[in-house]
Amino acid sequence: MDKIIGLMGRDEVVADLVAEIRKGKHVILTGTVGIGKSAVLREALEQVNARVGLIIRLHDHQAKGQFVEMARQMLELDLLTAKELELPASFHGTPGSEIDWAEIKNKVNRMSMRDLTQSVIPALAKAETKPVIAVDDLTSLTPTQMAFWLAIFEHAQVVGCASEKKARVKKLWWKMKEISIRPLSKSVARDVIKQYITTKGMLIESPDQYISHVVKQSGGVPQAIYDMLDESGKERLIDKRKVREMRHEAGIQYLDFTPMVMILGALIVSMRYIGMGTGDKTLYIMGGMGAALFLTFRFFIFKGVGR
Ligand SMILES: Nc1ncnc2c1ncn2[C@@H]1O[C@H](COP(=O)(O)OP(=O)(O)OP(=O)(O)O)[C@@H](O)[C@H]1O
Ligand SMILES: [Mg+2]
Repeated sequence: MDKIIGLMGRDEVVADLVAEIRKGKHVILTGTVGIGKSAVLREALEQVNARVGLIIRLHDHQAKGQFVEMARQMLELDLLTAKELELPASFHGTPGSEIDWAEIKNKVNRMSMRDLTQSVIPALAKAETKPVIAVDDLTSLTPTQMAFWLAIFEHAQVVGCASEKKARVKKLWWKMKEISIRPLSKSVARDVIKQYITTKGMLIESPDQYISHVVKQSGGVPQAIYDMLDESGKERLIDKRKVREMRHEAGIQYLDFTPMVMILGALIVSMRYIGMGTGDKTLYIMGGMGAALFLTFRFFIFKGVGR
C-alpha cells in the first residue's frame, strides 16, 4: 500500500526517531495496531542508514524467531562464526556469509534462546560499531524472553515497536525511550484517502461525504483507512446508502468523552450551590458527595478511555 501512497504526515516523528537513534538510545515506538509504527521505523532506518554502520532488522513477531533471525543475519555479516554458534565442526572452516542457511536452519532453530543469546552476545560486543537491532514487534514478549533481550541491550542498540506495553515486561520499557505514534490528523487522513481514490480510480457518488465518513470511522489509523477503502474498492459504484452502512472498529477513537464528563462535573457542582441557595439540605449534601465521588472516578474514567 505504502508503495502507492507513501508515508504521509510523519516527517516530525520520523525526525524524532532518527535523532534518538543517532544519540544511541534504545527506542520503543508505541501506538495502536495499524497506526504506522513499522512504516515509521522503516523510514527512519532508511534515513539513518548512511550514518549508522550496522543494522540488523528482525521481522519475526516471536522472540525465538527474532533470535534465530539475529543469528542468521550476523552470520551473513560475518559478525558471527559457525564455531561461535556451535555448529558442527564441518562448518568451522567456512565464513558465516558463505554458509548455506538451508543446511543449518534446523540446527539453529533447535537451539534454545539461552544458547542463542550466549553465542550472539560476545559477537555483538566485539563489533567495531555498536550494531543497531531493529525489531518489528516486541508486543508479545514474555518475562523469560525479556531476560534475553535485556542481555542484548548491553551490547547493541535496540529500536522496536509495540502496540501495547505489557506490564509483565516493564523492565524492558524502562530502558527504552518511548515515542508514541498518534493517529493521523484529519487533514492527513483526508489526503491519504484522496490519494488512494485517485490512484485506484474509484467511482463515488458523493466523494466529500465518503471521505469524511472514512476519516471519522478510521479514527486516523492508516490500516483502518486501507481496510475500508479496500472494502469499498470491491463495489462498482459507492452510493450514499453504502457510505452510511460503513463502519470500522477503529472509529471509536474519535469519540470524545471530555465534554460529557465536564458537563456532568458542572451539574454536580451546581447542585451544591443550588442546595445552598434554596436551603435544600438534601440537594446540598448530595451535591457535596457527588463532587467527591466525581473527582475520584474522573481519574478512572479518563484512564478507561485511554487518556
Ligand atoms: N502515514 C502513513 N501514510 C500512508 N500510509 C501509511 C502511513 N502509516 C502507515 N501506513 C500504511 O498503513 C499500514 C499499516 O502500517 P504499519 O504496518 O506500519 O502499522 P503498525 O503500527 O506497524 O501495525 P502493527 O501494530 O499491526 O504492526 C501499512 O500498509 C503502512 O504502509
Ligand atoms: Mg508493525
